[in-house]
Amino acid sequence: MHALIVVSHPDSRSLTHAVARSFAEGVAESGAHTAEIADIAAEGFQPDFNQADRAAYFLQAPLPSDIPREQARIDRADALALVYPIYWWSFPGQLKGWIDRVFSNGWAYDEAPDGTLGKRLGRLDVHLIGIGGADGGTYARHGYDKAMRTQIDHGIFDFCGARVVTSEFLLDVNGQGGASHIVTARALGGNAFAANANQKVSPTVSSL
Ligand SMILES: Cc1cc2nc3c(=O)[nH]c(=O)nc-3n(C[C@H](O)[C@H](O)[C@H](O)COP(=O)(O)O)c2cc1C
Repeated sequence: MHALIVVSHPDSRSLTHAVARSFAEGVAESGAHTAEIADIAAEGFQPDFNQADRAAYFLQAPLPSDIPREQARIDRADALALVYPIYWWSFPGQLKGWIDRVFSNGWAYDEAPDGTLGKRLGRLDVHLIGIGGADGGTYARHGYDKAMRTQIDHGIFDFCGARVVTSEFLLDVNGQGGASHIVTARALGGNAFAANANQKVSPTVSSL
């Protein structure tokens, strides 16, 4: 099986990139599985939803030329992992724009003329790893973890029929979190294809 790991962070020396690499190593160590990292910052992915995206959304024009390549590499994968720093209790803007533009009408979902929603990513397992500076208590007190899971896990991936297998926050990075998060990421990668495909793993919050 094959995992596509999308990382959205401008600095390849960051903890976020180290976590993505560690997840990939875990996948590769776990058996006959492969992983590839898509560094959308280094690739210069343009996140702004533009006129051409809007025309494609209304099915009035083909997708902009940079989108089919993104969709093709998801199509080639059995699992999609998103590894990202938490900015303002959500995705970084570039990753949100990647979703806006790549998860297009007609590819990620479609709507029948009677308004019925078709979920088109039912074959895809998803692993979400958000890395944040605040600690787990702050997330729990304000409900940020629940809000993020509602918006991302349910609002994006469940909307498209994809199964969220891993939903993990690696927090308190300025405490002593860094090294342990890299170990956690390797274990998550090792388990990426272990879960029963029809069963969701309970979301967890990891912090020191
Ligand atoms: C613009 C910005 C917004 C941030 N917002 C949050 C936040 O809402 N919650 C949080 O826990 N950490 C927040 N942080 C901290 C980052 O999540 C943290 O620095 C990052 O994940 C560390 O990983 P890195 O070393 O890979 O950058 C923010 C950082 C920046 C730069």
